[in-house]
Amino acid sequence: MREWTRDERYQRYEDMDQDTINELTERVNQSKYRQLFHIQPKTGLLNDPNGLIYFNGDYYISHQWFPLGPVHGLKYWYTYTSKDLINFSDKGISLKPDTKDDSHGVYSGSAFVYQDNLYYMYTGNHRDEDWNRKSTQHIAKVHKNGEVHKFPKAVISGPPSGYTQHFRDPKVYVKDGIYYAFIAAQNEEGFGRILQYQSKDIVNWTFQGEIQTKLDAFGYMWECPDYFNLDGFDLLLFCPQGVEPEGEKFRNIYQSGYIMGQYDIENLDMNHGDFHELDHGFDFYAPQTFTDVSGNRILIGWMGLPEINYPSDSDDWAHCLTIPRILSIEQGNLKQRPIKALQQLRSNKETALGYANKFTRFLYPYEGKQFELIIDILENEATEIYFEIRASKLQSTLITYNTKTRKITLDRSESGTLPEPVDGKTRSTYLDKPLSQLQLFVDTSSIELFCNDGERVMTSRIFTDDEAIGIKASTESGQVFLNFTKYDLKDDK
Ligand code: FRU
Repeated sequence: MREWTRDERYQRYEDMDQDTINELTERVNQSKYRQLFHIQPKTGLLNDPNGLIYFNGDYYISHQWFPLGPVHGLKYWYTYTSKDLINFSDKGISLKPDTKDDSHGVYSGSAFVYQDNLYYMYTGNHRDEDWNRKSTQHIAKVHKNGEVHKFPKAVISGPPSGYTQHFRDPKVYVKDGIYYAFIAAQNEEGFGRILQYQSKDIVNWTFQGEIQTKLDAFGYMWECPDYFNLDGFDLLLFCPQGVEPEGEKFRNIYQSGYIMGQYDIENLDMNHGDFHELDHGFDFYAPQTFTDVSGNRILIGWMGLPEINYPSDSDDWAHCLTIPRILSIEQGNLKQRPIKALQQLRSNKETALGYANKFTRFLYPYEGKQFELIIDILENEATEIYFEIRASKLQSTLITYNTKTRKITLDRSESGTLPEPVDGKTRSTYLDKPLSQLQLFVDTSSIELFCNDGERVMTSRIFTDDEAIGIKASTESGQVFLNFTKYDLKDDK
C-alpha cells in the first residue's frame, strides 16, 4: 500500500470535492471484499464502535471513521440507528473534528441518558506544532431531530497529575443517579490504567482515582474501558497494549479482554481473577457494550487491529464491526452468543447428516459466500477433526479440533490474500468442554466462529477468492458423526 503523508492523513472530508468522493466511493463499491451483513465504512477506515445505546425505541451505533483512505487519519464519528440491530438507517457523520480540542480527531467514547436526553462523552485529540498530544474529554447532546451539539468546552481538561496524555475513551456508567466515567490512561511509569471520575450534573467531573487491580505491570496502555454488572458479577473490559504472548494467549498485536469479580465503586477496589481474552481469532479489538430493550448486555467489537495492512486497503477501505453478541455468566464463566435477531437474516435452510473419517471427506458443496453454518458433533471417535470453510482446490480456511487436548485452531494460511505483516498463521484456544457444536457466521471476507454455544469465539477476516465456496470435514484418524445446518444470509439493510 502507498504511504500516506501526515498532511494527507489530516485532510478534512468537508474540504474534498464531490468528484473525488464519488470516485472513491465507486472504487470501494467495486471491491470484491465488501461485506453483506456487517457494518462497514462507506469509504476509508472504520475502527472502534462508539456511542452504543438503546434510547427511545432506537439503537444508536457509531464508529470511528477516517473517510479518505484505509489509514488512521483524522477521525470522525459515523452513526447508524436501528430498531432491531439488523436493519440500519444511515445517519451519516455525527461528530466532526471542528474545534481546537478535537482538531486531530474526535476519538472514541460512549453514550448515556441524562434527564431523558441522549448525550455522548468522547475524547478530543489535539496535536500542537511539535506534534505533542493533548487529550481532553467532552460532552455533546444528541437532539431529538438528530443534530448533535458539542458543549462549548471540555468537561475534563486533561489527565490528572501522574498520568500522560494517553488519556481517552470515556465510558459512562450510571448508578443511583450518579454518573461515573471510566477513562483509559497511562501512568508516568508507563503502565496502562483505568481512571474513575464522578459527576452529578454531567458538567462538573471529579477525579476519584485509578481502579485498583492486581494487574500492576500489564502493558503500557489500556484502551477502551467498559464496566458493567452481569448476573451478579462485575466485569471490567479493556484493551491492553504491550502484553507479551504467553503460549496460545495474547498473540495479536494488542489484546482485548476482561477481568471479573466484585468492584467496590466507592473505594475503587476491583477484586478479580485472571485477565481473559474476549476473542481468540486474528481480528478483534476495542469492543463496547450496552443493554438492549430487554436489559440484555450486548457487545460489538471492531473486526480489525491497528498497524496491520489489510487486502481491502488497495480498494480504499478497511475493516467492519462484528455481529452483536449477547453476554451472560453461566457457572461463573462468560458466554457470548450471537444475538437472536440475526435469525431474521436466515433463508434457504439445508441440512445434512453424515460421517467423516480419514478417507471419506464429508463434502458439502455450497454455492455462496455469506452463510450461517451450525455443525453439531453427534459422535466423536476421531483423534483430530478438520473443518474447511470457503474451500476450493487452492484455498480453504481450516478449523482443527484436537479431541485429546480440546485445542481448537483457526488456520488462515491458505485462506487467500493475508493481512500484513503476517503474524503467525494460526490462532488457538483450549475449550473447557469437549467440542459439541460450532456456529459460524461467514460473510464475504470474514468468519465469526462460536464454539460450544458461546464458550469461545474466534473472529477473523479472510480474503478468499470468489470461487472458494466449499465446506468439508475430515479427520486425522477415527470417525466423527456430524449434522450440518446451513442458512443463506441475506442483506436486509
Ligand atoms: C482504539 C483507539 C482508541 C482511540 C481511537 C482513535 O482503537 O486507539 O483508544 O480513541 O482508537 O481512533
